[in-house]
Amino acid sequence: MNDRLNVLSPLVIGQHTLKNRIVFGPHRTNFAVANRPGDRHVSYFEERARGGAALIVVEGGVVHPSDYPYENAIFAFKKETETGYRRIAEAAHRYGSLVAAQLNHYGGQATGGLSRREVWAPSPFPEVNTGEVPKAMEEEDIREVVEGFADCAARLCGLGLDGVEINAGQNSLLRQFLSPLTNFRTDAYGGSLENRARFCREVLEAVRRAAGPGPIVGLRICGDEYAPWGGLKPEDSRDLVLHLCGGGLVDYVAVEVGSIYSLHLTAASMRYPEDYAVPPARLMAQSLTVPVCAAGSVVSLELAESLLAEGIQLVEMTRALIADPYLPVRSGCGEGEIRPCILCNQGCFVHWEMNPKLTCTVNPRAGREGEMPVSGKPAARSKKVLVAGAGPAGLEAACTAAERGHGVVVYDRRDRPGGRLGLAAKVPGCGRFQNIIDFLYHRALSLGVRFHFGRPADQSAVASESAEAVIAATGSLPSPLPFPVEPGVDFLISEDILEGSGTVGRRVLLVDLEGGRRAVGTALGLAGRVVKLEFLSPELLISPELVPSGEFVHWYREAYQKGIVFRPQLEIVRATPSGLEVIGSYSRKPEHLKGFDTLVAVVPPTPCRGFYEDLQRAGVEVWAAGDCVAPRGLGSAIREGRIAGLKI
Ligand SMILES: Cc1cc2nc3c(=O)[nH]c(=O)nc-3n(C[C@H](O)[C@H](O)[C@H](O)COP(=O)(O)O)c2cc1C
Ligand code: SF4
Repeated sequence: MNDRLNVLSPLVIGQHTLKNRIVFGPHRTNFAVANRPGDRHVSYFEERARGGAALIVVEGGVVHPSDYPYENAIFAFKKETETGYRRIAEAAHRYGSLVAAQLNHYGGQATGGLSRREVWAPSPFPEVNTGEVPKAMEEEDIREVVEGFADCAARLCGLGLDGVEINAGQNSLLRQFLSPLTNFRTDAYGGSLENRARFCREVLEAVRRAAGPGPIVGLRICGDEYAPWGGLKPEDSRDLVLHLCGGGLVDYVAVEVGSIYSLHLTAASMRYPEDYAVPPARLMAQSLTVPVCAAGSVVSLELAESLLAEGIQLVEMTRALIADPYLPVRSGCGEGEIRPCILCNQGCFVHWEMNPKLTCTVNPRAGREGEMPVSGKPAARSKKVLVAGAGPAGLEAACTAAERGHGVVVYDRRDRPGGRLGLAAKVPGCGRFQNIIDFLYHRALSLGVRFHFGRPADQSAVASESAEAVIAATGSLPSPLPFPVEPGVDFLISEDILEGSGTVGRRVLLVDLEGGRRAVGTALGLAGRVVKLEFLSPELLISPELVPSGEFVHWYREAYQKGIVFRPQLEIVRATPSGLEVIGSYSRKPEHLKGFDTLVAVVPPTPCRGFYEDLQRAGVEVWAAGDCVAPRGLGSAIREGRIAGLKI
C-alpha cells in the first residue's frame, strides 16, 4: 500500500477512526432472503472489507411497516434481521472495516403494490415516476416513523454495528419533507426551511438519543435535485444541513445528487463526467465542520485524491468497489492493477421488474463471492491453450487460464484486442469500454499470454500451436435482414458505420431492429456527418434497452440537440429504390417514407459458432464463451470467459 496517497490516510469521525477515506456506499442488492440480510450479503461485504474499504454502509433498511419499497428490501424494523446484520458487522470487523446500516423510509417513492396499503409522503400529490397518490402523513404517522428510526438505530448499534446512516437523499421520505418540490404542507412540517427540516431533525435527535454518543451517525443528503422547479439547489441543501447538523447530532454528511425528476443522476452512467456530482459536496465541505463524503461516479483514485485536496474528507467509491473490491489495497500499485468500473450501469442496476440480484458487468464474482473463487486453483497439469477471439470473453478466459498455470495463446482476426466492444468504445461518450479492454489485455500480457492479431483461429492454428484445449470466443456477426431490400437501394448495416468502412449520403434513415446501444452509437457516429438523420423503430419508445440504466435521458437530449428525428412505432415492410414501405406498429396504417439517400439498418447479432462446432466434431477439447454461445452483452462475455478459463 502506498502511504503517500491521501485516500489511504486515516480519519477520525465522531469517536471512531476510519483506516482510510474510502467508503462502500449503500446500494440496493436484492440479496435479502425473506427481507433479512442473508449469506450473500455477508460474503459480499466481507470481500469489500478484505479489500480495504474503511466504512461499509449496508443498503437502506426499512424502519417502519408502512414502507415496502422493493421485494427484497431489508426490514430493519423486524428483529429477525438482527442475525444477518450482526454477521455482516463481524465479517467486516475481522478486516478492520467499520459498518453502518443505512436506515430509510422510501415515502412516496415506494409503491403500494407490495405492501397492499397506501404509501406515505408529506403531501397528497402523485409521485412523478409511479403516478401513485400518497397519503399525506398525519402527526401520529410522523411520530411513529421517528420512533422507527430511533428503535432501529438503538438495536443495530447494540448488535455491534459501528453506526447508522440516515437517508435524506434520493428515494427517501426525509428528502420529500426537506424539499419544496414535494412538501406542500401548511403545518409545522411545511413551508419555511426550519419547518421542512423539522421531521429530519426530530429523526436525528431521536437516533442520537437512542444510539448514544458512541456510534457514528451519518446523514445522507441530496445536494441538488436538478428539478425543473422548486427543487433543492446546492445552496438550499447546504443551509438545510447547517440547520440539521448543529449540536453534534451528525458525524459525517454524504452528499449525492438527483431526485424525482433526475433519478438517472444519482449514479450516472459513463455518458456523464466522473465529477458531475461533486459541486454540492464541495460547497458543503467549505461550510461544515463535520466531514463531507462525496458520492456519485468517483471511480478513479485520481479524482478521489483531488477531492481530498479540496477539503472533502471522504469519498464513496461504491461502483468502483463492486468492480474491484480490492481497490483500496491495490491503490498503491497504480490504476493499471485495478479492474475498472466502466460506469455502464448494467450488472449493478437492479431496479427493474425482474428483481435481478446485483452483479457487475466487469467483475463476475460480484454478488457471487461465496460461489466463485477469487482466482482458480492451479491446474493439475499445465496445458497449451488456444483462445480464439480477443474480445472480452477471450481476454478474460486467457487471463484465467494463464493464472492457473496454462500456456495461453490468443488468435484474433482483427489487428487489436477488444472484439466488437472496441467498436462500442469509439462511440462518443462510451470511451470507458476501452478501459476494461486495456485492463484485460495488459493483465493477459503480464501473465505471459501470447497474441496473434490479424490471424483468425482455425484448425491449422490449433495444430501448429499443438493446442491441447481450445476456448472459442469468436463472438457474433450481424444477422440477416428480416425485411426485403430491392436492388438499387443505397443500403448499409451499422457495423459498416462503426467500423468506418461505409459511405453514406447526406440524408440517412436509420432503422433500429435491436433497441439497444449499437443503434445509439451508430446514430451518434452519423450525426454531424449528415444533414438529416431519422431514427426509426418498431418499438413503442426509441431505444427501450437504455431505460433501466437511465442512459436514455442523456441519449434523448443528445438526439434532440443534434437534430435527430425519432420515428417510433413503425414496422418495415420492404425497402425499394423509391423509399421505405412501413406500417404503423399500432395504427396498422401503411406509409411510404421518402427523402433519404442511405438506409442504415441495425440488426441483432447472430453467433459465430462454426469454429467451435468444427473442433467439437474433430474431438478437440473445446469450450465456448460469450457471444458465440448466444449474443448478449459484455457481462455474460466476461463471466463465461472466466468460467471457461476455470474449466480447463
Ligand atoms: C457499438 C456497440 C455497443 C455495445 N454496447 C454494449 C453495452 O453497452 N453493454 C454490453 O453489455 N454490450 C455492449 N455491446 C456488445 C458487446 O460488445 C458484446 O456483447 C461483447 O463484446 C461480446 O464479447 P465477446 O466477443 O468476447 O463474446 C456493444 C457492442 C457494440 C458494437
Ligand atoms: S456493472 Fe458497470 S457500473 Fe456497475 S459496478 Fe460494474 S462496471 Fe461499474
